[in-house]
Amino acid sequence: MKPGADDLPCNISGNPMLPVEPSRRQVLGGGLGALGFLLLGCGGGEPLNPPGTNADGDRPPPKDPMAASLLGFTAIAPSDADAVRVPPGYRATVLFAWGDPVSDGPAFQPDASQGAAEQQVQAGMHHDGIHYFPLPAGSSSSDRGLLAINHEYTDEGLLHPGGMEPWTADKVAKSQAAHGVSIIEVERVQGRYRVVRPSRYARRITARTPIRLSGPAAGDVLLRTAADPTGREVLGTINNCAMGHTPWGTYLSCEENFNGYFSHPGMPVPPELRRYGISASGAGYRWAEHDERFDATRHPHEPNRFGWVVEIDPYDPSAQPVKRTALGRFKHEGATVTLAADGRVVVYMGDDERFEYIYKYVSRDRYVPGDRERALRLLDEGTLYVARFDEGGRGTWLPLVHGQGGLDAAAGFASQAQVLIWTRQAADRVGATKMDRPEWIAVHPKSGEVFCSLTNNNQRGEMGYPGTDAANPRARNLFGHILRWREAGDDAAALTFTWDVFLLAGNPQLGEENLRGNLQGDAFGSPDGLWFDARGVLWVQTDVSPSVLNQGPYAGMGNNQMLAVDPQTRQVRRFLTGPVGCEVTGVTATPDGRALFVNIQHPGEPPGERSDPAAPLKVSRWPDGVEGGRPRSATIVIQHEDGRVIGT
Ligand code: FEO
Ligand code: CA
Ligand code: CA
Repeated sequence: MKPGADDLPCNISGNPMLPVEPSRRQVLGGGLGALGFLLLGCGGGEPLNPPGTNADGDRPPPKDPMAASLLGFTAIAPSDADAVRVPPGYRATVLFAWGDPVSDGPAFQPDASQGAAEQQVQAGMHHDGIHYFPLPAGSSSSDRGLLAINHEYTDEGLLHPGGMEPWTADKVAKSQAAHGVSIIEVERVQGRYRVVRPSRYARRITARTPIRLSGPAAGDVLLRTAADPTGREVLGTINNCAMGHTPWGTYLSCEENFNGYFSHPGMPVPPELRRYGISASGAGYRWAEHDERFDATRHPHEPNRFGWVVEIDPYDPSAQPVKRTALGRFKHEGATVTLAADGRVVVYMGDDERFEYIYKYVSRDRYVPGDRERALRLLDEGTLYVARFDEGGRGTWLPLVHGQGGLDAAAGFASQAQVLIWTRQAADRVGATKMDRPEWIAVHPKSGEVFCSLTNNNQRGEMGYPGTDAANPRARNLFGHILRWREAGDDAAALTFTWDVFLLAGNPQLGEENLRGNLQGDAFGSPDGLWFDARGVLWVQTDVSPSVLNQGPYAGMGNNQMLAVDPQTRQVRRFLTGPVGCEVTGVTATPDGRALFVNIQHPGEPPGERSDPAAPLKVSRWPDGVEGGRPRSATIVIQHEDGRVIGT
């Protein structure tokens, strides 16, 4: 969770999506099994057609009841301890925490007295998406590799001695240096991982790093500013949340709640900025006070230069990052890449805000292994689609193409560049389905089925907000759910798909009215991180807000956590619990599957999301355990004491 924020609804569009309700037949049929009783009383409709059924929707996916579970570890209990807990036999060690040098730079100072110069060669704050890239490139080495790590946002109360008072240009510079991405080199020595220092690959990308804009919107007048009259180069990337990675070895870092960094004082916010959540005062970062490009009244095109997917080559520290405008502009959660049947590149993406949409991009050209020059153009030319989830378990990908579906000058879209810069408005126009905050998307490594976490939406069905529909079936959705779909013909480039609700999260301690977490196993809520390992285990990470963590509807569910799900049996087993106040977000593995890198974000975060430096520090002392010290977001590495593949 972050000030900014992904839970402030901006979608007041008159988008004509159909308000459909799941039927009793839907929820009882099609493999939803025991979840059915939870949804009795809903309106009419057709039977659900779950992934893997034929067009008539009458055949559930094959299941082998005797199949051995993928989950070979002992579940752990919920925890409210200020510690990372993992199952017996596993160990979790801290690898790379906020302030640790990426290479041979200065070490972290616990009093946070260092400035921007030190911060920009150290780990940023609030680790999020992460991916392991083997070294050398193209190998499957687990002994040596690079980690690309997002730093989503900052807690200014922790970042500076004395917090935000007085607020200075130096503090803004440090805050900007604590954003962005870290590339670090890691190696396995005597079975343990450590950061390689110095490393020729290590670098930081921050909110001030020059980044190229490419694709159909690059150079458009809406991307031009006084500092960049070309509209082709922007300083920095911000609010880098989840991520993706490509078959050609690049990292995709996704800009989520960029709106919170901008203010728009003294004048009404125009609708095209309001649709993205730009407000008069922003979310309290106060950057505009010392860096005027974040004053959107003075620089109304600067916000248009954020909300993109950034492609980064971790293997070449001199390679300039690139914002790929063909992938659309919204509050990007992640960018999950797979290949279509014919080799075209497909990218699945969520827009994490209440009542926003799920997108996919299909490249025009095919990926040709080994042709890197060609690969680096694949995310510039293609078609962006947005999802409509229809009743009956069917869905359609709606193209966001200028001149189609009413996306024309009469509707306010003068060009394809404008369709992409105002992606949300284009999706409104074509009638996409308003979702319960789409977060991560994961593709099953064998079946190609796609899973998306919808983290929660406490306004669904409330007065003045959209009601329930088949894909968002729960009013006041406090706990979130996971959707699953299968593309027609098992081709990721298909224009239609079948889908079902894979899992409704919830708190079983509250009884049947509060939907159960799963069919079998451990309860959780607010699914966010979602990732498949090579064996096909679905890993789920949770982001329950510190304002309700382990209390109210979440009572008894403990700190945020990571669980493993067998997608065939739907067993859910708790693997990790995080320290107090943290979010667990970001996970990747070495190719041998024997090490997991997991990010622990914002340990000790107070409900107000900014720490008060005047208050006795802190509700969490993780990971350093120092009395009065500052909790630090960190990448941890998890291994089994006998070196086995994680989860077996
Ligand atoms: Fe940054 Fe939607 O989580
Ligand atoms: Ca997230
Ligand atoms: Ca979240």
